[in-house]
Amino acid sequence: MSRETLIDLLYLVAATTFIVALKGLGSPKRARQGNLLAAVGMVIAIVATFFKQIDGHPLHHVGLIVLGMVIGLVVAVPAARLVQMTAMPQLVAIFNGVGGGAAALVSITEFSHIHASHPATYVTLEVLLGVLIGTVSFSGSAIAYAKLQELMTGRPVTYPGQQILNAIFGLGALGLIVAILVSGATSVLWVLLALSFVLGIAFVLPIGGADVPVLISLLNSFTGLAVAASGFTLGSNLLIVAGTLVGASGILLTRLMSKAMGRSLANVLFSAFGSATTSSSSASADQRPVRSGSPEDAGILMGFASRVAIIPGYGLAVAQAQHVLRELAEQLEAKGIEVFYAIHPVAGRMPGHMNVLLAEANVPYEQLLELDEANSELQTADVALVVGANDTVNPAASDDKSSPIYGMPIIHADLAENVIFLKRSMRPGFAGIENELLYNPKTTLVFGDAKDTLTKLVAAVKAN
Ligand code: TAP
Repeated sequence: MSRETLIDLLYLVAATTFIVALKGLGSPKRARQGNLLAAVGMVIAIVATFFKQIDGHPLHHVGLIVLGMVIGLVVAVPAARLVQMTAMPQLVAIFNGVGGGAAALVSITEFSHIHASHPATYVTLEVLLGVLIGTVSFSGSAIAYAKLQELMTGRPVTYPGQQILNAIFGLGALGLIVAILVSGATSVLWVLLALSFVLGIAFVLPIGGADVPVLISLLNSFTGLAVAASGFTLGSNLLIVAGTLVGASGILLTRLMSKAMGRSLANVLFSAFGSATTSSSSASADQRPVRSGSPEDAGILMGFASRVAIIPGYGLAVAQAQHVLRELAEQLEAKGIEVFYAIHPVAGRMPGHMNVLLAEANVPYEQLLELDEANSELQTADVALVVGANDTVNPAASDDKSSPIYGMPIIHADLAENVIFLKRSMRPGFAGIENELLYNPKTTLVFGDAKDTLTKLVAAVKAN
């Protein structure tokens, strides 16, 4: 078997591991294995590439490549290990941006290589699309990172004529691609690069707050497309497969997330959701009375229950209270009380956030019920314990047509006999809108950090 055939075979193995790994990521049980498998596939692909010959010569600049890999490892390994679960979306944003930037750089380099040889139009088109998409993904991801990391405002940044200007940027970039194809003028490539950079920033600025994770998933799919374009340019089937997988899964995830939020993708991208309606002042100005209680009161209420539904949300991740929550569930079960967890698909700030958090605390997977099943079970629950969730249990999503979250499927905590809310204040959730459930006569609010409150709740349940 020739060296090239062996390398192609190894690439095929790597591509297969990526596909099988994606399948694994579809379930929390196999997600870890899936990730590991993809990593193994990636190592195989990288090692095989070192043995590749280009025009009969071994790989050039091996020292530089290894140096780049070492720098990448030194930066990425600690970043990935130390990142807080709540900061995961911005880590994904930065990794994704770097991927998009790398794909754009490959395309720029290839452009200078192929240009002299007067390639077919479609080859130049692939390269130019790689530059455009990769650069948009790079600068867009950098802004998404800055928003999530609170280096700038997380709210939508809007100004008059914004969508028109963005359309001009987009059409301008496409026009430049046509100009390069027609005239062959290489200097225009740099104008395209600059305009793509500006387009990425301009595209992301009006997208704010809770919509940023959806945006990151979309940018992720852009990076996949840019990588696939590089694959065509370099004649690498592996890059084409890997890029297409990322592109397709990114766009599917984007659609799933928009759907779970009850919004269209166009609404997520172009409505500047949260710029006007997300002021918390309306909530804080509301002087209506609420019923609040102590952890002990909540403990007594739960002690009398026979079924308890736990509804986790973003606040659980902030408080890092997943372990003590499991402890509470075990205490309740020890008293013969049935416990289940109601999981909203967009609870938290990233897909599967609650599943990952609860899996980390070894909560049995069978106890996690998805939205529809959870809602039908809630009708027979005595207590719904809402731990740091808000928008995902907000009845306005089904009752109030004027609400910005109208249409989002929710966990109907109000179906339970009693609702206990664990939160620190009357502040709204990420959508910035008031939650009528807080004022519902069946609701008791237990104010405080979820971890502290849950610790006291465990003691209260033990004591009863
Ligand atoms: P949110 O609506 O964001 O509410 C979180 C609640 O947690 C807040 O009410 C907050 O109230 C409370 N909280 C924060 N820190 C706390 C702590 N240390 N202890 C106790 N409570 C704490 O959460 P959710 O219900 O999970 O909804 C998620 C939101 O993100 C939705 O709007 C969703 O559309 C959006 N989103 C999610 C995703 C994905 S994929 N998950 C993607 C895009 C958008 P206090 O400040 O009063 O404590």
